[in-house]
Amino acid sequence: MKTLLSVDKLTKKFEHTLAVDDIGFEIGEGRCVALLGPNGAGKTTTIRMLTGLLQPTSGSIQFLGMRQNQDRREWIGYLPQTPAFYGWMTGREFLIFTGQLCGLSAKDSALRGEELLTRVGISSAGKRKISGYSGGMKQRLGLAQALIHRPKLLVLDEPVSALDPIGRREVMSLIAEIKSETTVLFSTHVLHDAEELCDDILIMREGCLAISGPLTSIREANRQSILSLELEGDNYSQQWLAGWLKRVPKDFKIISESSSGARIIVQDLHTARNALLKEIAEYEIRVAKLEVGYTTLEDLFLKVVTAP
Ligand SMILES: Nc1ncnc2c1ncn2[C@@H]1O[C@H](COP(=O)(O)OP(=O)(O)O)[C@@H](O)[C@H]1O
Ligand SMILES: [Mg+2]
Repeated sequence: MKTLLSVDKLTKKFEHTLAVDDIGFEIGEGRCVALLGPNGAGKTTTIRMLTGLLQPTSGSIQFLGMRQNQDRREWIGYLPQTPAFYGWMTGREFLIFTGQLCGLSAKDSALRGEELLTRVGISSAGKRKISGYSGGMKQRLGLAQALIHRPKLLVLDEPVSALDPIGRREVMSLIAEIKSETTVLFSTHVLHDAEELCDDILIMREGCLAISGPLTSIREANRQSILSLELEGDNYSQQWLAGWLKRVPKDFKIISESSSGARIIVQDLHTARNALLKEIAEYEIRVAKLEVGYTTLEDLFLKVVTAP
């Protein structure tokens, strides 16, 4: 895989905050990368440094194959977290305006603008003023704006966070289409959005990169067996459960428990399940449900972002 962007020891200190703390990663050409993390993790700060809007305190950002002294913005299309539009412009005028800002001629901007309005599915609204657009339409126009100069890397900061469920769905499917044409980096605080779109994932927490790599290998590497037990609500069974949970082997990790059930991560599923079944039979416990499952990316994400 050809590397498009290489980031090394990137750090940003604001006066009182270490917003980005020594992070490094690579983005491969053609990949769709999710930058995932809770609010305040440092996603926007990272993105603003990549786009050149913010000067890093230290570290390097390298676009491979870029000529020396070439303006990075030629390669990057950027949709900020809270984009601003001139409400009095029409969608079409806005694209002609941004196209010209990117160095296209008036004629090329108009042609490309028209093409993109269709591409993002708002061509019929092209003649209308942006002030009348819905959130989803504005976000599509923002995507068109970011694509106007055919960037190698499309950078989207929380592209769907401010949208209602319908707008969200529309913009998600649009990004899913666009990602086959160009390399995409998008940030989100919603794991599900990352899982739906990305090939690679970067999980940030408190300025640091907690986990990074291809989504599938992260999912594989963090898959652990879970035993999930539910009992009928009788006192005897509940008492047994409370006692049993106190004396489970060391390699059992209780992830949730109630008076009539528990979810437990186990290392050796076969042995653990047999031991549990033996107890259940011996004590004649009334089991409502015993299930084997696996930890999900959600479990991992929660662990990463809530770990002390
Ligand atoms: N311009 C700034 N001045 C001071 N602190 C900032 C500035 N921008 C961001 N921060 C702080 O840096 C941290 C990371 O913020 P941000 O990159 O916006 O996170 P995210 O986008 O993941 O929500 C936060 O603690 C935030 O308050
Ligand atoms: Mg942000």
